Amino acid sequence: MTDANTALFPTSFICPDISSQLGQDYILRPLQLSDYRAGVLEVLKDLTTIGDISEERFTEQFEFLRARQGEYFIIVIEKAATGRVVGVGTLLVERKFIHECGLVGHIEDIAVAKSEQGKRLGIKIIGALDFIGQRAGCYKNILDCSPHNEQFYVKCGYSNAGFEMTKRF
Ligand code: ACO
Repeated sequence: MTDANTALFPTSFICPDISSQLGQDYILRPLQLSDYRAGVLEVLKDLTTIGDISEERFTEQFEFLRARQGEYFIIVIEKAATGRVVGVGTLLVERKFIHECGLVGHIEDIAVAKSEQGKRLGIKIIGALDFIGQRAGCYKNILDCSPHNEQFYVKCGYSNAGFEMTKRF
């Protein structure tokens, strides 16, 4: 359940339509401090390496993000029966000078627990992040993904707009 005192952002950014589509079995809500123990990092392990993050370090990072109001929106889907996090996604709002000081939403770090994949939770996470982007005033949301996920994002309403370039440090 949502703990308003430790939620990363206000629940007014949570899409009511997607919440109701999820029914009784799943809860869509902002990331909260207790999600360290509810397994959010376990879900992200399916995406990439996480490293050894203590609860103290998680809390420190969480508080840094929470202080930057309107910038970091991390949502989770909790399985009601177990209280465990089974899906996660991030929208980072970038403030620009171009496009009349426009805002762009960057979708990052999307993951659904292996046992829950294929149940349309991923598409709902993207829909929920699109809702947040619109509500925050973004003129678009963008993301990078590997070719094997392209069709998933096409089904979420996204289209291929070019190449991803990277330089590792
Ligand atoms: N390729 C093609 N189609 C796909 C794929 C895929 N990789 N994944 C899902 N789909 C399709 C589904 O079949 C479904 O189609 P339908 O509408 O015809 O039924 C539709 O997309 C929606 O699928 P969901 O059930 O909502 O997808 P799921 O809940 O399994 O989540 C996700 C998809 C997030 C990619 C999941 O497989 C996952 O967590 N993978 C591992 C981590 C990962 O790769 N994350 C994305 C990284 S990119 C980023 O973070 C910006």
